[in-house]
Amino acid sequence: TWTMDSFVEQAVAEVRARAGDGRVLCALSGGVDSSVAAVLVHRALGDRLTCVFVDHGLLRRGEANQVVRTFREQFHMQLVYVDAGERFLSRLAGVTDPERKRKLIGAEFIRVFEEEAGKLGRVDFLVQGTLYPDVVESGTATAAVIKSHHNVGGLPENMRLELIEPLRWLFKDEVRQVGVELGLPEEVVWRQPFPGPGLAVRILGEVTADKLALLREADAVVREEIRRAGLHRQIWQYFAVLPNLRSVGVMGDERTYAHTVAVRAIHSHDGMTADWVRLPYDVLERISSRIVNEVPGVNRVVYDITSKPPSTIEWE
Ligand code: XMP
Repeated sequence: TWTMDSFVEQAVAEVRARAGDGRVLCALSGGVDSSVAAVLVHRALGDRLTCVFVDHGLLRRGEANQVVRTFREQFHMQLVYVDAGERFLSRLAGVTDPERKRKLIGAEFIRVFEEEAGKLGRVDFLVQGTLYPDVVESGTATAAVIKSHHNVGGLPENMRLELIEPLRWLFKDEVRQVGVELGLPEEVVWRQPFPGPGLAVRILGEVTADKLALLREADAVVREEIRRAGLHRQIWQYFAVLPNLRSVGVMGDERTYAHTVAVRAIHSHDGMTADWVRLPYDVLERISSRIVNEVPGVNRVVYDITSKPPSTIEWE
């Protein structure tokens, strides 16, 4: 066993030994693992690490800013920020099938990442936020790489870089401890699991800029109210979904025909099974009334009361 500060010390020494005087690249996703891995490698190598953050425009409200603020302003790291939202949206135009969305987003992500990496000149290593369970599950690092492809943020196939995997002996809770030790903000360290394809798989059917904006606001309300109720550390995932469904409502003397927002909150240990959270009625009420009052284009809010199985956590 190790204490987290001795882990950091040892990991920094190992990264230095492995990297020699090489240059290192890291794909940041905003997630816990890639963030902790990047800060750890930065502590070891300073400006020989360059991070590339491809913003696919499908993140939650405030997340892209959070990444830029944390890595540029707090840690003074070399960060290439790529605002690729338009690109992803045009790829997604007309696409309704969930798996096609995932494939398109994954492929576009790799394309953008490779383009940016190609501009950087010589690079020798790639940082991966592989954890111990990924290594064990697969037996080799290869499957971990494949898994992180799926998570968006993986190794482009034709970039033959050697890997630096400073978290490969850690479990998730240990990664969070290392994150705290390194001074990462609480929002990053305790970020709930978020799918690589982001909000695109929480908008049923076609993804458009308008629907994204609507969902982003509704989701921000859910997150704020769960946090205000002090429940954010106890709940595995909590978020809003846009089922792409309109229904009749009434506002003043007017009938409306507007979107339904679904709220999902689940307890889980590993994402494989999940139980819906018995949220207090007053929390549900605040979420509902704030969404219909604050998010234009929504006149109805429903709560998803199904567990996994037979449902899944995400709606797509
Ligand atoms: P489901 O919906 O299958 O989700 O019950 C199980 C867990 O996986 C996450 N999830 C994804 N993560 N890319 C990811 O990186 C994806 O395409 C994806 N789909 C689902 C989901 O948020 C939950 O934690």
